[in-house]
Amino acid sequence: MRYLSQFKIENSTVLVRVDFNVPIKESKITDDTRIKNVLPTINYLINNKNKVILLSHLGRPQEKDPGLSLEIVYSTLSNLLDCTVKFCNNIVGNEANKLKDNLKQGEVLLLENIRYLKEEKIGKNKEGIRNNNVLAKELIYNVDYYINEAFACSHRKCTSMTIIPNYFSKKKFAGFLLEKEIEYLSKIKKSTLSPFTAIIGGSKISTKIKLIEKLLILCDNIIIGGAMAHTFIVYLGGKIGSSLFEENQIEKVKKILNEANRLNCKIHLPIDCITTKEISNIALTNTRVINDIPLDEISADIGPKSIKLFDEIIRNSSKILWNGPLGVFEFNPFENGTKSIANSIHNATKLGAFSVIGGGDSIAAINKFNEKLNFSYLSTGGGAMLEFFEKDQLPALKSLED
Ligand code: 3PG
Repeated sequence: MRYLSQFKIENSTVLVRVDFNVPIKESKITDDTRIKNVLPTINYLINNKNKVILLSHLGRPQEKDPGLSLEIVYSTLSNLLDCTVKFCNNIVGNEANKLKDNLKQGEVLLLENIRYLKEEKIGKNKEGIRNNNVLAKELIYNVDYYINEAFACSHRKCTSMTIIPNYFSKKKFAGFLLEKEIEYLSKIKKSTLSPFTAIIGGSKISTKIKLIEKLLILCDNIIIGGAMAHTFIVYLGGKIGSSLFEENQIEKVKKILNEANRLNCKIHLPIDCITTKEISNIALTNTRVINDIPLDEISADIGPKSIKLFDEIIRNSSKILWNGPLGVFEFNPFENGTKSIANSIHNATKLGAFSVIGGGDSIAAINKFNEKLNFSYLSTGGGAMLEFFEKDQLPALKSLED
């Protein structure tokens, strides 16, 4: 793979695939980390007199959906960059080509949401694949170089991530951010630092089974939190009241616990929790043991004893991976578990541990707490980070290779 950091690109037209799939609430971007993190690459390119064309998706539109227009990102980007930034309501065609033709050195052009075009999805038959290639050729009209700066989307096979690179034999690069993502995630996956503790939260165990299976081989400890812990508690015979769990994953949980035993990896579950009858910012709460929750209550965060237990495990770790919140942190009465885990990882990092955090929800939680926390690396990848662990290679990274 070629890294932008090892080459000089100047006076050229560069197509950069970014991941501006940012969270939006009430027509406002609630977290602009993914935009800010690619600024070094964009600034490098404009400072070297290149014309920069940015291509991204936002959400999962099936067709043109004004609610998922990248125009909202355009406003933020224009404020963050010190150069002329243009926006094109189209992705390909006359208007897009004209804007590309008129783009000056040191200027940036952001194209509309690539997922408005059905040809972005990989075709299921010969004609579909032909259409992918037609779109790819239109997108690279007048383009000299292609850069993948979209780690968070690199687990997807699609025209802009895996077909376009085929048209640039040596003129394709991993951007500065993608290089960092690969470096830090490879380090946490491969370095022999031990004990290695993974903290896996979130609501559904089904979405993280493959990751956990892989982590069983790599980790000394896996801490399970969030609603996914309830499925374990149910398997172990506990009463979880009305809390969320996945009945169809109970067999999988049994398999995970058996494998953990065999591989000498300790699985740590919460021992207590914060329960409520309603999830809101003014909810009344109780602290309960995790396996004896009254029928009309739901567990929405880990409790103080679990926090203490997990803190001790994290403090004694040399390598830490965290993905997914431990409670419904969006609501203040249930943010303490996630906040405490973030603090424990921060303290362990200060003591010399290598820590990597990823997943949109974990990053959103850290941003919500607004505290000065230090971690070795914050990944922009959610699903991509999980798949980086599960598999040996991601499709878009493979397409960047010679
Ligand atoms: C993400 O946010 O994980 C990436 O942008 C990929 O989005 P997707 O899951 O809709 O493909």
